[in-house]
Amino acid sequence: MNKKESRIAIIGCGALTRIFYIPALKKLNKIPYALVDPNVNGIGDLVKESGAKTVSPSIEEISGAIDAAIVATPNYLHMSQAKFFLDKSKHVLLEKPMAATKREGRELIDSSKQSGAVLQIGMMRRFWKINKAIKKIMEEELLGKLQSVSMEEGGVLSWPVQSTAIFDPMQSLGGVLMDTGSHTLDLLHWWVQDEDYSLEYSDDNHGGVEADCSLGIDFNKTGIKARVNLSRIRRMPDMFFLKGTKGWIKLKPYGNVFESSDRRIEKYIYNQYPVEELKQQVFLDLFTEQVQSWLSAIEQGTKPEIDAESVLPSIRMIEQSYKLRRQMEYAWN
Ligand SMILES: NC(=O)c1ccc[n+]([C@@H]2O[C@H](COP(=O)([O-])OP(=O)(O)OC[C@H]3O[C@@H](n4cnc5c(N)ncnc54)[C@H](O)[C@@H]3O)[C@@H](O)[C@H]2O)c1
Repeated sequence: MNKKESRIAIIGCGALTRIFYIPALKKLNKIPYALVDPNVNGIGDLVKESGAKTVSPSIEEISGAIDAAIVATPNYLHMSQAKFFLDKSKHVLLEKPMAATKREGRELIDSSKQSGAVLQIGMMRRFWKINKAIKKIMEEELLGKLQSVSMEEGGVLSWPVQSTAIFDPMQSLGGVLMDTGSHTLDLLHWWVQDEDYSLEYSDDNHGGVEADCSLGIDFNKTGIKARVNLSRIRRMPDMFFLKGTKGWIKLKPYGNVFESSDRRIEKYIYNQYPVEELKQQVFLDLFTEQVQSWLSAIEQGTKPEIDAESVLPSIRMIEQSYKLRRQMEYAWN
């Protein structure tokens, strides 16, 4: 049975909200009830553009009037703000990273279970059609037994942040690993499904946040070896490479661009997603699908597409990486 339309608040009106959440809501013909940001004076244009009924600097002020919140604030606020809403039975779409530790992530899941509020995590990359196709390829073992995964991504940071949070370790809770890595490692875990591993991690942190990092992972149950290199200061190949006993697939982290060892794999992908569909999908579609999936879970009781539980393994890996951290070795040392 259809329930009433949810009154949505967007918490944190920086670059992400401006570039993706307001346009995604617009595409879905949804008007947010409230926009929340301490910089109330700086978001007048967004209030106008979105049609929001109210604007406030504080979540406490609007919580009684809303049903659901999109939390897109600096990372250090994710846990406390999401918990604040979930404990009040308000549904939450929480931006990545879900939390800094597995324990905190679990706490959020428990709050959502106790209150019955829907918690969906913003792992929007899982909506790329090629990434969904790879999930199926893994399940059906089309590459045979997966042997290795290499994931290299990044470039000189150019995202137009509206606050300095990303450069402050107290607010960002980490650098490129916490930021880009929460997407990359989420895909790795989603595809590989092996939580028994040994891990090596190094980064270039010299007291602020890391801009370059490298992980080496030996998955014990599956025997898969993975290497993940991320950067926000140099141009990376932007390439994921998955190799199995019966074939390989290469893909870009963005867009549905791929190459594979043979026609069998290509045909399998194109059967699910025709070439035109793959070409047409853009970033805004991912955010729109993400919001749509969350709203359907709230209003129609469907299962949220990104199960919060399934995000915990990547949070655990980030947490362990920082604990095991070694200084990155430079070629010139
Ligand atoms: N899914 C993705 O691909 C993706 C991309 C970019 C950012 N993000 C995530 O979105 C979040 C925001 O990133 P951004 O790039 O928009 O950052 P930003 O610095 O541009 O914006 C952060 C905003 O939060 C506001 N804010 C600060 N304290 C607040 C509070 N107590 N209550 C409400 N608002 C507050 C700031 O004033 C600012 O407007 C981060 O967690 C980031 O990891 C996700």
